[in-house]
Amino acid sequence: EHAPLIDPFARPIDYLRVSVTDRCDFRCTYCMAEHMQFLPKKELLTLEELDRLCSAFISLGVKKLRITGGEPLVRRDIMTFFRSIARHLDSGALRELTLTTNGSQLARFADELADLGMKRINVSLDTLVPEKFAEITRWGRLDQVLKGLEAAKRAGLKVKINTVALKGFNEDELFPLIDWCAAEGHDLTFIEVMPMGEMGEELRLDQYWPLSDVRKAMAERFTLTELDESTGGPARYVRLEETGQKIGFITPLTHNFCESCNRVRVTCTGELFMCLGQEDNADLRAPLRAGTDDAPLIEAIRAAIARKPKGHDFDYSRQKVAGQMSRHMSHTGG
Ligand code: GTP
Ligand code: 5AD
Ligand code: SF4
Repeated sequence: EHAPLIDPFARPIDYLRVSVTDRCDFRCTYCMAEHMQFLPKKELLTLEELDRLCSAFISLGVKKLRITGGEPLVRRDIMTFFRSIARHLDSGALRELTLTTNGSQLARFADELADLGMKRINVSLDTLVPEKFAEITRWGRLDQVLKGLEAAKRAGLKVKINTVALKGFNEDELFPLIDWCAAEGHDLTFIEVMPMGEMGEELRLDQYWPLSDVRKAMAERFTLTELDESTGGPARYVRLEETGQKIGFITPLTHNFCESCNRVRVTCTGELFMCLGQEDNADLRAPLRAGTDDAPLIEAIRAAIARKPKGHDFDYSRQKVAGQMSRHMSHTGG
């Protein structure tokens, strides 16, 4: 019914990432401060507002919807939202409904997610050693996540593991992680740590383990074949010839994938960010709360897409981290 969303650089925007909460039951050190000031409830979009917002984007041609957080599955009643939004899968308007999660609640929800039409999920996991898992998440329990992953597998959900590459933390787990994913049948993607949040910057620079080095280490055991798949996402892929596994690399800092960017993101308070690495955003909560008519909302979305920037400003090369984002990842949802 509406014309699709095309940005000023002729990139079609058909992928929306929505953070449904800033809360999380973990506190990964690169993601959140230990004592987070979470948002008051009235600031958050209600489940009904989230539904209207996602539906408006779908009417504008969004085909892929990824729900993020914080941890999306700790939002109260989130399954009500999922059940409702799945109607767009049934109608064919939406091609993919998916989730990025820490896995802690999957044992409870995997079956229902699969039943409503979800096919694949991304699960964050940086280590397979219980003590290290507790350290990086500050108090998370690895066995709880592993149980969640079992449930996801049983439910028929395809799993992609996201591992943030951290120098001095999981360098020694490169091969164990690869072997474990091969055995479990999970895809695996490594992510370069990004400079988000106002705390612990020196720490994050210390932890910076460039994925070019990860690759070099991998090449000592495996034959890597570069895969030439531009999925429109930030990941580049290699195949390990010995196992046939496909491994992804997300390198926002050493490799720029902005030319083919197809996505925008909405925070749990309804701010539309046109780029993960830029501060410019548009308030969608006001038009949502102005009334039941979607026209102002659609207008605000179009106006925002019309100023989507060409690319991000992350930069580790300057000492003071010029591209430092003051937002936490849990706010924007990655
Ligand atoms: P797809 O939806 O299949 O592309 O998955 P994904 O890997 O992008 O999603 P996921 O939520 O698993 O995110 C993995 C990492 O990619 C997170 O650290 C995100 O912050 C990062 N990421 C996702 N989109 C972008 C982007 O547009 N720019 C940058 N710099 N990083 C992104
Ligand atoms: N840098 C890189 N990745 C991060 N994530 C959270 N914070 C950061 C950061 N500062 C990752 C999580 C999850 C994904 C959505 O974002 O590990 O896999
Ligand atoms: Fe929670 Fe994910 Fe952030 Fe860890 S990275 S604190 S699991 S939102």
